[in-house]
Amino acid sequence: MEVVIVAGPSAAGALIADQIEHLVRSKPNAAIGLATGSSPLEIYRSLIERYRTGRLSFAQSSMYMLDEYVGLPEGHDQSYRAFLHTELLNHLDVPSERLFGPNVHADDPRVACAEYEARLAASPIDLQILGVGSDGHIGFNEPTSSLSSRTRVKTLTRQTRQDNARFFDSIDDVPHHVITQGIGTILDAGHVVLIACGTGKASAVVRLVEGPLTAMFPASALQLHPHATVVVDEAAAGMLQLAEYYRDVYANRPAWQKLPDLTDNQANNGLQ
Ligand code: GLP
Repeated sequence: MEVVIVAGPSAAGALIADQIEHLVRSKPNAAIGLATGSSPLEIYRSLIERYRTGRLSFAQSSMYMLDEYVGLPEGHDQSYRAFLHTELLNHLDVPSERLFGPNVHADDPRVACAEYEARLAASPIDLQILGVGSDGHIGFNEPTSSLSSRTRVKTLTRQTRQDNARFFDSIDDVPHHVITQGIGTILDAGHVVLIACGTGKASAVVRLVEGPLTAMFPASALQLHPHATVVVDEAAAGMLQLAEYYRDVYANRPAWQKLPDLTDNQANNGLQ
């Protein structure tokens, strides 16, 4: 696992946006997995800025949802589909029909889960953005989720519903059920990039990076992925035992591991 420690949230967002820019420049029809929550917002701000300044186009890219609530009316402003439109897609040139997600309004959610799995199998995600919940969930894979689980319906823990109640009038309005990519599904992405900032994430970060691999802390499953990057700010890195080592590894990474310079000259090359 690659752990990158940066000064603050905006540097974390910019660093991941660099990775995405590099991906989309080399593969304009890339499949990008999007997460919700507050953590990825700095990434989205940076991507919007790059699009606005004509540096990057997503016209050929496709976006894939990580998870979605079940039971909210279609178009509800707290649905994750609405969130991703408001925070990202409305500001980019990716066609809105190219945001794919499970059909949470299907009569039989199990069919919707199987269909989403089939779609992901046909167009594997190149880069999956992740945040981490306070109980270690990725997507909505709550503790004790199978580390090889696939897209399915999950029931949220009381803690997750409490954490997410800030977006609703009260906790009673937070749905109990969701459809989420499974941990096995997430691990199929070519590159998984998790962002976590602030002291509130420090204990989750140390458990996911340095703790035991356990279904009790689903984000620890990233330890199984051959290409996982965890980008944290100083505050979120506060409990890492090997922080100095991670800094040293990053500062001394070989040239072939560095992203090429994204200069203005390269902007728009084959992208518009
Ligand atoms: C939700 C999402 C997760 C996200 C988590 C953390 O539960 N389903 O994908 O990682 O929130 O949110 P935040 O980044 O706001 O702490």
